[in-house]
Order: sequence, then C-alpha cells, then structure tokens
Amino acid sequence: MQTKQVETAGQRFKNIKVLNDMPADQMGKVMNLMSASLGVNCNFCHVENDFAKDDKEEKQAARQMITMTFALNKNYFDNRPEISCNTCHGGKTHPQNAPNLNAIAMAQERPKQPATKPLVDAILEKYTQAVGGKENLAKINSRVVTASRVEPNGKTETEEISQKGNKILIVTKYPQAVVSEAFDGTNAWKRANADDIKLKTDEAEQIKRNAQIFAFNDLKTVYSKLEYRFTDKIDGREVYLVNATTADNQRERLYFDAANGLLIRRVSSVPTVLGNFQYQVDYTEYKDFGGVKLPATVRHTMPNVSWTRKILEVKNNGAIDDAKFNAPKK
Ligand code: HEC
Ligand code: HEC
Repeated sequence: MQTKQVETAGQRFKNIKVLNDMPADQMGKVMNLMSASLGVNCNFCHVENDFAKDDKEEKQAARQMITMTFALNKNYFDNRPEISCNTCHGGKTHPQNAPNLNAIAMAQERPKQPATKPLVDAILEKYTQAVGGKENLAKINSRVVTASRVEPNGKTETEEISQKGNKILIVTKYPQAVVSEAFDGTNAWKRANADDIKLKTDEAEQIKRNAQIFAFNDLKTVYSKLEYRFTDKIDGREVYLVNATTADNQRERLYFDAANGLLIRRVSSVPTVLGNFQYQVDYTEYKDFGGVKLPATVRHTMPNVSWTRKILEVKNNGAIDDAKFNAPKK
C-alpha cells in the first residue's frame, strides 16, 4: 500500500475556503465539471487572469453551493457523491423548480434485449473481423497519420501521429506552441515546446489507452476484465455495452455496434469530490487504410472540453526510429 501524502487543494492554491481537503490534482476537473453543469465559462465566476480573487458574487455563491452539495451528500447519501451541481442545474445557471409543461414525455428506454446474451469473445472476434481481420492487422507494423484537430470554435490545428506497435507520438502544432504527447511502451509523457507538462495519472493512462486502441491490441490484453452488460442504443443504432476494467482497476465502458461489430464509443471516468469526471471518445466514419479500418473521425468530449480529430492521410509501414517515442533528454 502506498502511504504517500496527497497534496490538497488547500496546500497548492492561494485562496481556498471550501475545497481545502480535495486532492489538488482534482481542481481542473472539478472546475470544468462546475462550468459544464451551469453551462458557463470560467469567467462567470472568475475575474480575468486571477482565479484566486474573490471579486465576483457568483464565486461566493458557488462556495455556498459547494458547501450545500457536500452537506446533502453527507447527510442523505452516506457521503457518496450522488448530488452534484448538475443534478439541479442540468446545464443552466438557474435551476427550474416548476416542471416543464412542454417537455415530450420521452422515456429513455433500452431497446429489446437479445434472447441470448452475446459473449464477450464473440463481440471481440466480430470487432477484429470488422476492422480488417487478424491477418491484415498483422501486416501493419507502423503508421504515420496526418490529421486535423478541430476545436469547438472551428479553429483547426495540424497533427502528426506516429505509431509503432504499442508506441505512439502525437504532435499538435498550435500557433503558440508545438505540443507532443507520447507513450513509449512503458511511460507516457507530454511537452509544450521544450517544457515538460506534468501528467496526472488518468491523463497518462488515456495516452497509453489511445496507443493500445490505435494498435488494435487484443482487448483482452488491455483490460483484465471484460463483461457484457446490456444492449443499448446510440444515435438509433443498437450497441453492446461492455464494462472493461484494467489490471490497476481503471474502469471504462466500451460500446460495440451490434450490426457491424465496430467499437464506436469508449467512456472512462475519474471520481472527483463532485462526482465522476467522464471522458468520452466517439469513433466514427471507419475507413479502409491499407486493409485495416481506422475511425476517420474521432470526437473527444469531457465536461467543458471537446475536440475532434479528422484523419487526412495515412502512410503504413514506413521506417520509424524507436527513439522518436522516448521523452527528450534535458
Ligand atoms: C460556478 C463558479 C465557478 C466556475 C464556473 C469556475 N470556478 Fe474556479 N473557483 C470557484 C470557486 C468557488 C473557487 C474557490 C473554491 C474554494 O474556496 O474552496 C474556485 C477556485 C479556482 C482556482 C483556485 C484559485 C486559487 O489559487 O485560490 C482555480 C485555479 C480555478 N478556480 C480555475 C477555474 C477554471 C480554469 C475555470 C473554468 C474551467 C473555473 N475555475 C470555473 C468557482 C468557479
Ligand atoms: C439542490 C439543488 C442545487 C445544487 C446541488 C446546486 N445548486 Fe446552484 N443553485 C440552485 C438554485 C435553486 C439556484 C438559484 C437560486 C436563485 O435563483 O436565486 C442556484 C444558483 C446558483 C448560482 C448563482 C447563479 C447566478 O446566476 O448568480 C451559482 C453560481 C451556483 N448555483 C453554483 C452551483 C455549483 C457550482 C454547484 C455545485 C457545487 C451547485 N450550484 C449545486 C440549486 C442547486
């Protein structure tokens, strides 16, 4: 067991009055969760360029709300984070206490469940077939993908993704900096120009997962436990939901298209003091690139953060030096 003391928000940040005991690493996620729950930007509560300042009454109101939310969970839900900002706010600054008379009563019902439960092995086998089959997958040793990263405001950046086995390097060219993130087969790292960006555990895990999924690893080697849950619907299509757990107990949900077998969604979640911070990746527009299908459009969504990666070009089996994936020495 690790007994390392976790740095708290109270220790790391300047002006903390209610989130004192929260692990400091949760700050960004919690702020994004609050913003997304109210449907606002950071500046709804914060003055420009100084997050520690208390000049806005919305920030003071938010402190009271955080205190209230914690109290509700403590007093009524045995300290489980059942109530979060979104429970009441649902994307609005002012929650509605009167029911909406115009809402169409549209119960989100699950589709009819298959007569026999699909087996995980069969779902994985169909997925492998759908992306090209074992033989074709084995023919791709490396690839370089040129892609365009589309931000919610429509701005685009160019990306180059190099991949060899389980290794991946993604280089994004922003106007102000070149950001590299990579998994070298063992560790993940990230840099902006020549500066290291410290990765949180879950962020490192996601870079690794990106490499594993992109390499079409046998998902049984990626996750130590895979369990079919039920048949659901995404955008009108039937999907099999498979709960996936890694060896170090990270949980993800995988959604496979029941008809064509493709993996179309992956959701990971990280617990915070204000409930789960979910990271959803939607894999769409699978296209054939040299006998193997890749999702040409991949949408990444988190509370308050999203972007879409669109493949422009794929070059398979060019020579890539392994050193490319190693963290640059200082
Ligand atoms: C709904 C209001 C609200 C929104 C929206 C919000 N914050 Fe906050 N933020 C707060 C409150 C309240 C605190 C202080 C918490 C405390 O006192 O424990 C805080 C504290 C912070 C701090 C710590 C400052 C310090 O050093 O004391 C940072 C950094 C921060 N917010 C960043 C952000 C970012 C970035 C966003 C947008 C993604 C954001 N916040 C959105 C209410 C908000
Ligand atoms: C139990 C329901 C509930 C929960 C949970 C809740 N709120 Fe609220 N919140 C309200 C209501 C109701 C109002 C509106 C009060 C009013 O209109 O005067 C409000 C108002 C606010 C306001 C003021 C809005 C404005 O325009 O000035 C802020 C900021 C806010 N909430 C932030 C939060 C944050 C952040 C969380 C999570 C930590 C949260 N709330 C959780 C019910 C809730």
